[in-house]
Amino acid sequence: MAFGTKNILIVYSSGYGTTREVSEKIYDILNLEPLFNITLKSIHEPFDVNKYDYFIIGSSIRADQLLANVRDFLSYNNNILRYKKIALFVVCLAANTLHGQHQVENTVYRQLAEKYPQLKIIDLAAFGGKIDFNKLNPVMQDLIKHVFRKTGIKANGSIDTRDWDQITRWAVSLKEKITNGNIPTVLVPIGVEQNEKN
Ligand SMILES: Cc1cc2nc3c(=O)[nH]c(=O)nc-3n(C[C@H](O)[C@H](O)[C@H](O)COP(=O)(O)O)c2cc1C
Repeated sequence: MAFGTKNILIVYSSGYGTTREVSEKIYDILNLEPLFNITLKSIHEPFDVNKYDYFIIGSSIRADQLLANVRDFLSYNNNILRYKKIALFVVCLAANTLHGQHQVENTVYRQLAEKYPQLKIIDLAAFGGKIDFNKLNPVMQDLIKHVFRKTGIKANGSIDTRDWDQITRWAVSLKEKITNGNIPTVLVPIGVEQNEKN
């Protein structure tokens, strides 16, 4: 392995494949960097947490939270992950506007900072999500209609609010950040006024 190679794991949790597709896009962009030894895994697949320097963790959002298996992963591996660098992205309907993205990023940031204060989070992003009503039973469809109302989405069925340009920009900037080693270890909440941070 070349000197300076960085071992990176993209690990995702995805209910219906939306976050998996976003993870694949991010993988394709980061994989262009010759000094990255990059692996893409579902959270359900086995992997050795010790092997990687950087973790890019993707999760969709349910009931305003990261998926339970991502929360379990963070808790279970907290003692190892605290020595790694973590970038996190979430995919959800609430992030369908810039304002929504900032709100979700701040909510997730606060949840992480409270529960895992030692984690070195180098980046955090929220991306718009997708819902395919054909994959949902009527109870779930009703639940999603509630999420539509809550998030101000004017839809009554399937919708895809992912912005692939935004996802690409984030992946490219993360690639540059990791390449340059220009990484603050404390995350500054996005879109939060200075006096809100304390
Ligand atoms: C049961 C359920 C609950 C959800 N709850 C929320 C929520 O609280 N906030 C939100 O913005 N999106 C919510 N969503 C939307 C998902 O985050 C969105 O559809 C995402 O793209 C799903 O990605 P996945 O296929 O990778 O799981 C929910 C979706 C489902 C199925």
